[in-house]
Amino acid sequence: MTTIQNWLRNGWSEFRYRSGELCCEEVPLSAIAREIGTPFYAYSSKTVREAFLSYKQGFGDRRHLIAYAIKANENISIARLLAELGAGADIVSVGQLYRAQVAGIPGNKMMYSGVGKTDREIRAALEAGILFFNVESAEELARIEELAEEVHIRAGIAIRINPDVDPKTHPYISTGMREHKFGVEIEAALDLYRRAAKKEWLEVRGIQCHIGSQITDSSPHREALARVLEVREKLGREGIETRYLDVGGGLGIRYSEENPPAPSEFVKGLMDVAGNLDLTWVIEPGRSIVGNAGALVCQVLYRKDHGGKRYTIVDAGMNDLIRPAIYDAFHPILPVNQAEDPTQLSPTEVVGPICESTDQFAWDRMLPAFAQRDLMAVLAAGAYGSAMSSNYNAKPLCPEVLVEGASWRVIRRRQTIEELIALEREYLAP
Ligand code: LLP
Repeated sequence: MTTIQNWLRNGWSEFRYRSGELCCEEVPLSAIAREIGTPFYAYSSKTVREAFLSYKQGFGDRRHLIAYAIKANENISIARLLAELGAGADIVSVGQLYRAQVAGIPGNKMMYSGVGKTDREIRAALEAGILFFNVESAEELARIEELAEEVHIRAGIAIRINPDVDPKTHPYISTGMREHKFGVEIEAALDLYRRAAKKEWLEVRGIQCHIGSQITDSSPHREALARVLEVREKLGREGIETRYLDVGGGLGIRYSEENPPAPSEFVKGLMDVAGNLDLTWVIEPGRSIVGNAGALVCQVLYRKDHGGKRYTIVDAGMNDLIRPAIYDAFHPILPVNQAEDPTQLSPTEVVGPICESTDQFAWDRMLPAFAQRDLMAVLAAGAYGSAMSSNYNAKPLCPEVLVEGASWRVIRRRQTIEELIALEREYLAP
């Protein structure tokens, strides 16, 4: 419990006990459960806003664009809340472009990342007037040029540099080392810039790198930035200007004992490396904006003692939150109604209903005893939670709720069983 208490005290978290009830801001999670059932995601708008404003504060009066990496949480109400604060978006698909547009984020505040942009996606992004593509290969650059000419819209571009820096995070979410599929090595990148600078339908606007995710120490980012600045300077000497310096995303959050810098400190650290350059800073944070803003709330269905272990079986599973199953990720777990004696803990396996052995939220976790029908909150689930959820085992997508002080509203309703088969219906035999 010390870990959890520590997290509640120091995290970017609006999840707190009030009179023994776990609340999101001022709303008891049990009140939401009573109205919409379980499982559901609850998000604190205050946490989202504060994280965004911390980035903003870090930049101070420097020109900047905070482009929310919408992949972390794609709900348009969350994106809209950020748009109202001035956020742009880092997008990686035409679906995300659409989501960002509906949320009210203007095209000229969007960057398009990813190694596999399709023709349809490139065309749509050009028509939306995005600020630039983060280009990841010579062939992609050539295709963007062809399509830009075809639709008669000049394409803004940045080359994503692979700086070959170890971000010291989970290997599945590190991206900036030579052996990863992402970005372009420095020498090759210089070559691409030289090529792009001569093309009528391309406009070199920026330079980018993104080295990975859940990075809790700022030194890998600083090292990567130093390398990118060298490339930028070299380009400048050749007359190729990169007005936007895009440092990617990747700042981590507290899941248990991590101690990442606040976004404002993180940003200041990066600006120290660069000094006073005449450019626009771009950053693409995802997890650090929404991660600690969200919890997945579920209900205990059954308990059983089996094979020397105690299982607590809940009604949410890897279809709702897959991070523990695929990254062995730790998420804090709390009872929604505080235990009578919170120091009385025993080990349990928290598992979901899905037919997979990895459908588990916690292994051998010290928790207070749960009774049948008790509510449980899986915390720090605002990023890559709902966004990575699926219909596996034909489970409907669960609702999402946005809390604002003492009020809350459903920002995505529960999917219906009929909607699960809606795409197939017309193919049913007569
Ligand atoms: N920019 C680019 C180009 C990215 O690929 C990502 C994340 C971001 C920005 C945002 O990174 P963040 O600030 O959220 O760290 N599903 C994994 C995380 C995958 C991250 C993918 N790219 C997880 O659940 O940990």
